Amino acid sequence: MPFRPHEALRCPLDGLPLELQDGCVRCPNLHSFDVARQGYVNLLSAQDKRSKDPGDSQAMIAARHRFLEAGHYRSLADSVGDLLLPHITSDSLVVDAGCGEAYYLECLREGILKSGQPEPQMLGFDISKWAIQAAARRFSATWLVASNRNIPLRDASVDLVIDMFGFSDFASFTRILKPAGLLLRVQAGAQHLLELRHIIYPELKDRKESTMLPEGFSLVQNARLEFDVPRLDRQSISDLLLMTPHLFRASADGKKRAAALESLSINVDVSLELLRKA
Ligand SMILES: C[S@@+](CC[C@H](N)C(=O)[O-])C[C@H]1O[C@@H](n2cnc3c(N)ncnc32)[C@H](O)[C@@H]1O
Ligand SMILES: [Zn+2]
Repeated sequence: MPFRPHEALRCPLDGLPLELQDGCVRCPNLHSFDVARQGYVNLLSAQDKRSKDPGDSQAMIAARHRFLEAGHYRSLADSVGDLLLPHITSDSLVVDAGCGEAYYLECLREGILKSGQPEPQMLGFDISKWAIQAAARRFSATWLVASNRNIPLRDASVDLVIDMFGFSDFASFTRILKPAGLLLRVQAGAQHLLELRHIIYPELKDRKESTMLPEGFSLVQNARLEFDVPRLDRQSISDLLLMTPHLFRASADGKKRAAALESLSINVDVSLELLRKA
């Protein structure tokens, strides 16, 4: 899909506006960024990279894609849609920060179209180029490789930021949001994937939930979503482990126990908070 430029784009190096010219995105200081043939731009500066291949790996993105496309978390996507739809218009700029392979953004878009509402402007970015390559295959939107720490978007240009299981940077979200702009924050709750965690960790520590509102935001609405996903098969169990940080934290024995499972039922426990920039 061809790259879709947006007037809110700014240069990650000097903050000047970016424009699409001759297959590149350029600022007036002639910093230039190639448009990838897959339809995205990599606006990650050297300072924003903490490794050569930052963010989720190709294997993690493929696992998340398979798991989410199997529909196991569809009710979460529906809850996100129910919460956000009343707040989105055709003029809105909706930004998914750390969008991964953009399953939730695509579900939101489908929900909007199904409801007969016109499509808003949608932009997704992630620090992982593998994530953005997968996202750009889904539908036409502005897709960027970029970091939450240095979002290449103008100040006060965004109506809604979506931050699902992401590496939040509230100062950046505040900067890019318009006055009274909205932030959807989705986080794992204390009971999230408890059965799986019992299997892979010898001792389970209590999970601390951050209930504090980020500075400069007020609460519009919050919801808690709990549901069970029965009988995941081996492929889905291995995908789930790979798409979460658990695989890296689990003990060797824990990983063996998980690998031996033929089937597993999981419980999902997530909190959704819709916040408004003060
Ligand atoms: C747990 S995944 C969630 C992905 C997606 N929001 C979802 O719910 O399916 C976290 C994502 O954050 C990305 N990420 C990590 N650090 C980031 C950063 N500094 N800026 C933007 N994205 C980042 C990872 O590459 C990964 O795709
Ligand atoms: Zn520049």
